[in-house]
Amino acid sequence: MSDKTHKEPALSPEEQLRELDYNTTAINLMTDAGISLKNVTKRYGDKAVVDDIDLIIEPGEFMTLLGPSGSGKTTTLNMIAGFADVTEGLLHIYGNPVAKLPAHKRDIGMVFQNYALFPHKTVAQNIAFPLERRKIAKAEQKTMIAEALEMVRMSDFGDRYPSELSGGQQQRVALARALVYKPRVLLMDEPLGALDKKLREWLQAEIKRIHRDVGSTFVYVTHDQDEALSMSDRIAVFNNGKIEQVGTAVELYERPVTLFVGKFLGESTVFFGKGVANADGTTTVDVSGNKVIADGKKDVSDFAVLVRPENISLHNAGFTNADSAQNAVPGKVETVTYLGSAWRYEIKLPDGNVGTVRTPHDSPVFDSGADVVLTWPIEAGVLLEDLGDADESLT
Ligand SMILES: Nc1ncnc2c1ncn2[C@@H]1O[C@H](COP(=O)(O)OP(=O)(O)OP(=O)(O)O)[C@@H](O)[C@H]1O
Ligand SMILES: [Mg+2]
Repeated sequence: MSDKTHKEPALSPEEQLRELDYNTTAINLMTDAGISLKNVTKRYGDKAVVDDIDLIIEPGEFMTLLGPSGSGKTTTLNMIAGFADVTEGLLHIYGNPVAKLPAHKRDIGMVFQNYALFPHKTVAQNIAFPLERRKIAKAEQKTMIAEALEMVRMSDFGDRYPSELSGGQQQRVALARALVYKPRVLLMDEPLGALDKKLREWLQAEIKRIHRDVGSTFVYVTHDQDEALSMSDRIAVFNNGKIEQVGTAVELYERPVTLFVGKFLGESTVFFGKGVANADGTTTVDVSGNKVIADGKKDVSDFAVLVRPENISLHNAGFTNADSAQNAVPGKVETVTYLGSAWRYEIKLPDGNVGTVRTPHDSPVFDSGADVVLTWPIEAGVLLEDLGDADESLT
């Protein structure tokens, strides 16, 4: 494979939108469905910013690319869109190899974080733009624009200019413009990143509804775990140019395969230590002198046992664990917070790390500073390798 660096012109969002223009002959070739990346690498100079990834996105699926800043999400999206060359590997869209296919022949719509509306055009004219380029008759355009505006609940705003709209409204117009020609694939790069929390949550639900209505394949980039968990059919977790795991929200939350994924998605308590495999298929990890048992074994020396906050119970100091099916480890309450439906604790563990525990609102309450014992069923712990990279998830 060629190792040469590619010269790619930096396109403005407007130029990118022009590039995404329609081409019927290319679309007719796209008979199969979905997007597939096989051993895809993107190098800038010597650095593989996307490093040998495999990903299959099913037709009609809502796939989210989730990961910290710089992990390669946008680069991956740009390769799918055709704004960045694939250095190595195979990229197929609807069954077609697209490495040589320019962006405008890929039947893709794209929404960016910064709206990228034309300021001198009205809302209706903005949405008409891709239709004009496709030389669609005026009468038909009118119907399509009305439909697109209705889809994003902006029917009364066709005559406004972008400067007369709020950020959320502008983003809905951008969505309408990307959807008006009914592309088979819609790519979104942090489309709600600039909006406040309440608006973001409302638009998350709107985008989900639109996804159900149009049935296109959606690829959505975010670094917000809650957004990923609430919107996606499946999530691909990126770390440092690699995909660490692909799965449903439930799979990633309950059965992460790496410590990075476990820490990136949701809260947890993690116990670290050296481990030995037992004859019954479990592993005993020595957490600063406390025995922690978890299902499974691994051929590694440094272990992590990850437990979700709601699976841990708290007891008074001195509690004796008589149940061989559960673990017990002492800790000290650092903070306690009332969440209405639950209590949330931050607890200092024997190894000095701080874990999170959530108990039901009607359970006994422990004050900060209290010595406690944490217990959880063996099967609630996930046995993982400690690669020393867990803190990267905090960025
Ligand atoms: N044109 C480029 N030339 C050189 N390096 C680049 C280029 N574009 C991106 N990179 C590098 O590739 C890496 C991945 O960038 P990318 O934009 O894909 O990250 P990201 O996951 O989208 O991050 P963010 O959440 O901050 O948007 C980064 O280290 C970035 O600096
Ligand atoms: Mg990005």
